[in-house]
Amino acid sequence: MSQQQTIVNIQHVSYRYEKENVLEDINLSINKGAFLGIVGPNGSGKSTLLKLILGLIKPQTGEIQLFGEDITRFREWQKLGYVSQKANSFNTGFPATIFEVVASGLTKKIGMFRRLSKGDRQKVVNAIKIVGMEAFLHQNIGELSGGQQQRVFIARALVSEPELLILDEPTVGVDAKNVASFYELLYQLNKQQGITMLLVTHDIGAISDKVTHVACLNKNLHFHGETLEFEQLKLGEMNEFYGHDIHVLSHDHVHTGGTNR
Ligand SMILES: Nc1ncnc2c1ncn2[C@@H]1O[C@H](COP(=O)(O)OP(=O)(O)OP(=O)(O)O)[C@@H](O)[C@H]1O
Ligand SMILES: [Mg+2]
Repeated sequence: MSQQQTIVNIQHVSYRYEKENVLEDINLSINKGAFLGIVGPNGSGKSTLLKLILGLIKPQTGEIQLFGEDITRFREWQKLGYVSQKANSFNTGFPATIFEVVASGLTKKIGMFRRLSKGDRQKVVNAIKIVGMEAFLHQNIGELSGGQQQRVFIARALVSEPELLILDEPTVGVDAKNVASFYELLYQLNKQQGITMLLVTHDIGAISDKVTHVACLNKNLHFHGETLEFEQLKLGEMNEFYGHDIHVLSHDHVHTGGTNR
């Protein structure tokens, strides 16, 4: 591989919705191939940081570069895939098949899938295969379990073949057994397809054997480094950061036997 490419570069970024900053002087860079887990208490600015990276909001201070280009000039948005924190509140009563939901990642509109080219249809099927949901192609999204639906939302984000996949707490409502295989899927996407991953999670203990880097956010960036370094942080420091007791450091309670390969 050639020189490490910086996919996201955030410099001195502050952001406020109203008077007070919710993010303050954030400096963070993510290299190609990294799997970054972002942790932090509720309201610490995690979703806001993702929205800044996605260009949905603009920082009042600081600069952001995506793929080496200033975000204000960046146009290759298909290189970014996004699964929002609210993906799991998607109206699953809506009569759409798995194929249609994933195709909407290309057309942005469910129901427009009839206009897809043959090549696009193939892309949709491929994305569904990657997440292991091909047996459900024509099934209704509402008939799937929470964990299966999350896989479909990942496929929808993958269909445009992104180089960076951004996920905001994608496992809310997914049970422990399915969470493990869901994280295994993310791990495979990172390892095998080389997709750079940015994951907001409250579940860092379950995923610390999968992420390459960890960032701890609470308005400021309290820590950013390799996972090993993170694990060596004293538990006391983490409790101080969260303001309550948490269980972050053990990942041996997770089985990643890969029932869903
Ligand atoms: N649209 C908005 N308008 C005003 N304030 C907002 C808006 N969105 C978020 N905030 C505030 O900004 C702060 C950071 O919110 P954000 O959603 O980024 O937190 P988070 O770390 O993602 O939290 P959670 O873990 O609950 O998802 C919070 O204090 C929140 O109330
Ligand atoms: Mg959030």
